[in-house]
Amino acid sequence: MSNREQEIHEKVKRYYSELTNLKGGELASAVCSCASAGIPEPVKRIVAELPDEIVMRYYGCGSPIPDRMEGCTVLDLGCGTGRDVYVVSKLVGENGRVIGVDMNDDQLAVAEKYREEMAQKWGFSNVTFKKGFIEDLASAGIGDASVDVVISNCVINLSPDKKRVFSEIRRVLKDGGVLYFSDIFADRKVPDEINTHPLLLGECLGGSMSYDEFRVIMEETGWEELTVVSSHETPIDNAEIEKLINGIRYTSDTVRAVKPGSGSSCCCGSFAVPYEQASACCAGASDACCG
Ligand SMILES: C[S@@+](CC[C@H](N)C(=O)[O-])C[C@H]1O[C@@H](n2cnc3c(N)ncnc32)[C@H](O)[C@@H]1O
Repeated sequence: MSNREQEIHEKVKRYYSELTNLKGGELASAVCSCASAGIPEPVKRIVAELPDEIVMRYYGCGSPIPDRMEGCTVLDLGCGTGRDVYVVSKLVGENGRVIGVDMNDDQLAVAEKYREEMAQKWGFSNVTFKKGFIEDLASAGIGDASVDVVISNCVINLSPDKKRVFSEIRRVLKDGGVLYFSDIFADRKVPDEINTHPLLLGECLGGSMSYDEFRVIMEETGWEELTVVSSHETPIDNAEIEKLINGIRYTSDTVRAVKPGSGSSCCCGSFAVPYEQASACCAGASDACCG
């Protein structure tokens, strides 16, 4: 890892540790809390059952939780305090599995604290948290072609090596597996002074990709099919930050991409789809999981 990458990891770790321990959980802008729009009803109902501390320390910017994941193995990159992990735990059910990876001990401690309680509540135990970098999932013990669905909520923008992240995701997914993630995108290439600014970085603005950059990385790492599921303008709600970003406009988008191939079929071979498309894509399927 280069010095620059290490520096960015440290800045981001510090930012989220301070949020977890000192600041009572409030981010400086509305960027990472713009996820309330567009959350599917089934996800909302599960969130209502989660412990307050997990919901309070949720810093997602979208809803990267697709429908049709019964029995799937799901990996959450940058799981934070585990909100999405526990939602997915219920959705995949007792035959599925969820692994949350994060580099921050403080966030993981909160997530881990509720593991037993949630297993009792759901009636099964299918959650594991691992400390690690999303750029190096092998070191976190995530094997080749071992995962059906990779999700991530407002994290990839924080990575100093996004090309490595997308290649790692491709490595760990089974053929035909699905990447479904929400993130902040910029309407242009973000200049260096914004890119490394600790506040802007921590608030998920500094490291955001433009779509041009994103498409190049996806092509270079072997992804073929990519769909923007939803896109919303990101509220900032902080005058100091508005000044610093100097006119850049940001959106919070949810993207679905499929790893070429057909090895993964945890739900009728057409799985991890947006809620609004789920019944159409499974129409005519006789499989019980498609209800
Ligand atoms: C904006 S928070 C989102 C957390 C969680 N996904 C949620 O929705 O609440 C970003 C999280 O990504 C983690 N993170 C950032 N960069 C990372 C990296 N390179 N490797 C692992 N985790 C990372 C941070 O520690 C933090 O928990």
